[in-house]
Amino acid sequence: MPFLSTTLSRVKPSPTIAMTAKAAELKAAGRDVIGLSAGEPDFDTPQNIKDAAVAAIAAGKTKYTAPDGIPELKKAICAKMSRDNGLDYTPAQISVGTGGKQTLYNALMATLNEGDEVIIPAPYWVSYPDMVLLAGGTPVAVEATLENNFKLTADQLEAAITPNTKWFIFNSPSNPTGAGYSRTELKALTDVLLRHPHVWVMSDDMYEHLAYDGFEFCTPAQIEPALYERTLTCNGVSKAYAMTGWRIGYAAGPVELIAAMRKIQSQSTSNPCTISQWAAVEALNGTQEFLTPNNEMFVRRRDLVIKMLSEIDGMTVPTPEGAFYVYPSIAGLIGKTTPKGTVIDTDEAFATALLDEADVAVVFGAAFGLSPNFRVSYATSDEALTEACTRIQRFCAELA
Ligand SMILES: Cc1ncc(COP(=O)(O)O)c(C=O)c1O
Repeated sequence: MPFLSTTLSRVKPSPTIAMTAKAAELKAAGRDVIGLSAGEPDFDTPQNIKDAAVAAIAAGKTKYTAPDGIPELKKAICAKMSRDNGLDYTPAQISVGTGGKQTLYNALMATLNEGDEVIIPAPYWVSYPDMVLLAGGTPVAVEATLENNFKLTADQLEAAITPNTKWFIFNSPSNPTGAGYSRTELKALTDVLLRHPHVWVMSDDMYEHLAYDGFEFCTPAQIEPALYERTLTCNGVSKAYAMTGWRIGYAAGPVELIAAMRKIQSQSTSNPCTISQWAAVEALNGTQEFLTPNNEMFVRRRDLVIKMLSEIDGMTVPTPEGAFYVYPSIAGLIGKTTPKGTVIDTDEAFATALLDEADVAVVFGAAFGLSPNFRVSYATSDEALTEACTRIQRFCAELA
């Protein structure tokens, strides 16, 4: 009898976390590695949010709470959904979890049975397929093309739907590409979904506030109200409020689904950290003023990276609408060899050689389901980005 669960053999560890850990290890060993692999902002959690957490501790708000969140946070989430997304929810329709990751996972655990398919546009956030597998479902990746700016078309979605499709996972702006769907592009997808009433929509809006060049964020239940009853709108405070370590995410959807998610959470982790929940109340209800200067900084960094990487022969670098990632194609570099003799036959070989020979950590495209590409996270200083892009330019120029 095997000791480890057979479910475990179906999944792999997160490659982004593995790459970030490898870069940290090399750094600790004295190597001058620049990490462009982490998916988190480099700036600090705003002071008003930290103050709210300290005040919560001082007031003794340090005990268990309801398993899926305090009423004050659910109320703040309802207000946010109404204010930002034009969506009306009651607190009974809200689930708060330990990061966006937990709410997505709970929803899949609560709904997937053997044989259920989940459509995931590729390139995708690394955790979606493995979460589906852990929950006993079947991930169905559908490749969006670089020519269509990494966005799924209505025809592609239509072709992927089968009688077994349970969920369509939608993520805009996207990790890893930064691609954001316009209202028209999203409407084309929701029109398809209207024709298939058995398909539910899981919208991962984690990068909602990180949108540039006037890009107008939109989410499926807002674009197509007829989908409201079968949409789970997921979000969190991790990225926009630089609160990755606080671990607060949330989801809004039909009461029955939210209750099922609560059941899972109550028998696994119970409530997310009480102090973090009070901090998240302040994040959502407090000033949003820092978002604009942060976004200006991100645009500057995005443009810096795109300009420098676009100068490389063999690399194509689309301009994304949001998040803090770019996802260049290295199709023109495949088959070349590094001065140390490494053949760049895959994007994984490219990323490994870039780390070993040029001290820059990025994540290879195969991890996100679309090759040959790599993901750059530009949530780091201008100086680090300039130096990293200079190293990438040099590394690519030396390929023969
Ligand atoms: C698209 C997407 N969804 C969800 C998450 C999870 O966020 P959290 O840190 O709140 O669990 C991430 C984090 O990288 C992400 O990129």
